[in-house]
Amino acid sequence: MCGIVGYIGPDQAYDFLIKGLQRLEYRGYDSAGVALLDGGLKVYKTKGKVSDLVSLTEGKDTTGSIGMGHTRWATHGEPNDINAHPHLSQSGDLCIIHNGIIENYASLKEVLLERGHEFVSDTDTEVLAHLIEDIRENEEVDVFEAVRLALNEVVGAYAIVIISKNDPDLLIGARKGSPMVIGHGKHEGEYYIASDATPIVEYTREVTYMEEGEIAMVKDGQLTIKTIQNIEKTPYIHKLEMTLDAIEKGGYDHFMLKEIYEQPKSIYDSMRGRFSQEDLTFAMQSLREYETKIRNLKRIIIVGCGTSWHAGLVGEYLIEEFARLPVEVEYASEFRYRNPIINSDDLVIAISQSGETADTLAALELAKENGATLYGVCNVVGSSIPRITHAGAHTHAGPEIGVASTKAFTAQVTVLTLLALGIAEIRGQITKARLREMFTELEQIPGKVQKVLDSCADKVLEISEKYMNVQNFLYLGRGYNFPVALEGALKLKEISYIHAEGYPAAEMKHGPIALIDENMPVVVIAPKRGYYEKVFSNIQEIKARKGQVIAVITEGDEKIKSIADHTIEIPDTEDALVPLLATIPLQLLSYHIAVMRNCNVDQPRNLAKSVTVE
Ligand code: F6R
Repeated sequence: MCGIVGYIGPDQAYDFLIKGLQRLEYRGYDSAGVALLDGGLKVYKTKGKVSDLVSLTEGKDTTGSIGMGHTRWATHGEPNDINAHPHLSQSGDLCIIHNGIIENYASLKEVLLERGHEFVSDTDTEVLAHLIEDIRENEEVDVFEAVRLALNEVVGAYAIVIISKNDPDLLIGARKGSPMVIGHGKHEGEYYIASDATPIVEYTREVTYMEEGEIAMVKDGQLTIKTIQNIEKTPYIHKLEMTLDAIEKGGYDHFMLKEIYEQPKSIYDSMRGRFSQEDLTFAMQSLREYETKIRNLKRIIIVGCGTSWHAGLVGEYLIEEFARLPVEVEYASEFRYRNPIINSDDLVIAISQSGETADTLAALELAKENGATLYGVCNVVGSSIPRITHAGAHTHAGPEIGVASTKAFTAQVTVLTLLALGIAEIRGQITKARLREMFTELEQIPGKVQKVLDSCADKVLEISEKYMNVQNFLYLGRGYNFPVALEGALKLKEISYIHAEGYPAAEMKHGPIALIDENMPVVVIAPKRGYYEKVFSNIQEIKARKGQVIAVITEGDEKIKSIADHTIEIPDTEDALVPLLATIPLQLLSYHIAVMRNCNVDQPRNLAKSVTVE
């Protein structure tokens, strides 16, 4: 939800800002803008993508060694040139970019209007710029203090960067509820600001993740960080481990395709070193630290949104099967507002690729207030969720840039599998022999995912060509594969704009069967595990109504092959691990259909990757 970048130092800011915005474009692409300070203040902004901004600035003066850039996912005000960031204060002296929502902007605006302020945009951000200037003038304080006082009046979420025409050696950043990272440049007095570390890693590996309610100021080459309560903090410097190739396309047409093909590695990385096949033990620190707590748990609540919620559903099946512990999976957005019952002996697991999803964070805060133990399964190191949870295990999927989540999902399912087995082991619910079987099979999974990728490409292309123009798709699965059906449908609708529904296969006869005719493709996840015979009957019911069946089957399954219109084979595996394999062809199917329909797969319309607003 909006990407922000800022630079101060001896170099020209423009190239870093543009490259940084391109790296952050997954966070929103409704409009883009930059501001550069070089004696005077230059602001260029436009509706559209960063490429439109580059065209706009062609031949213009882009000099300046202080600057900021913004790529927008619109919340207040339609995506147009005027609502694009940066925004200026009343006098035009202060310039601001913002990611988040100022919830009380309407009442602040009313007061400022009464005081003679005039606004040009419909945004909440412009109100903040005016408020800071109003405070600076009326309280006769410097810009930093004015920012600090203004943020004390603001309700909502923000990551902001501010520059001031009259302070040619000043860059200010602040965050609450939206992420912000500061890069410590190689030259003295050189600092980078960004929504995440991807724009920064090319320039420096030393970063400071800003904490909630902190304001950073670079002035005269010195970095100072204070809280909005005016308490000085010492910046903690982390070393980035991310590599540059991980955030580039590396020869693939799209990030999404690259990320789909990275899954053998991302799944392997997410399990690597976390269990020992030899002595049947787990090397997950969180499990060791919370052993007593886990032994006494009464219930687990999993919260997440979108794809992460789907991974949570797989987690529910895994934990209930192996650890025999009740699990509830909740949409974070519902959980946070429905006065849920949370007990101090609950474990609340938050699943999130970005680690910044506003609803998931709020659900965790609510759980924390009620005394539950919080556990994070997140991909982005240094993000907010891992920092507010008591314990957790990162998914080691590496940066996921494509807006549609792919490798993050399988990495989440991998970590949840280990958690389920680990909790089962601590609670004495799994035998050594069964643990050995599961470990053995888990070790095979990266290789089997590679096999699926190598073997299904042509088949998926052929199916994509045939169905690329349909209006609707149905996805069915049972048991562990019900969440896979949901995820397959979500992937298709979000990137190809074809309407798709996922259902538990047995629910078909309670309604969706009415949709089936010769034009309706139905993707059925039907491995020779779990409820094979039942799903086979569902396929027959679809065929009896002339529906088109695309079945994901276990290799060599001649029975389903004989009645389905198309089959995609995956290697046999444990029932609990089928989602890790069955998801892969569904991701590819969505990808190819979207490409054939000329959709922007990496940046689907209206979406953004890191949903930092409710
Ligand atoms: C779908 C997708 C979204 C995210 C959701 C949660 O492909 O990417 O549904 O899964 O917005 O995001 P995170 O996992 O970052 O909390």
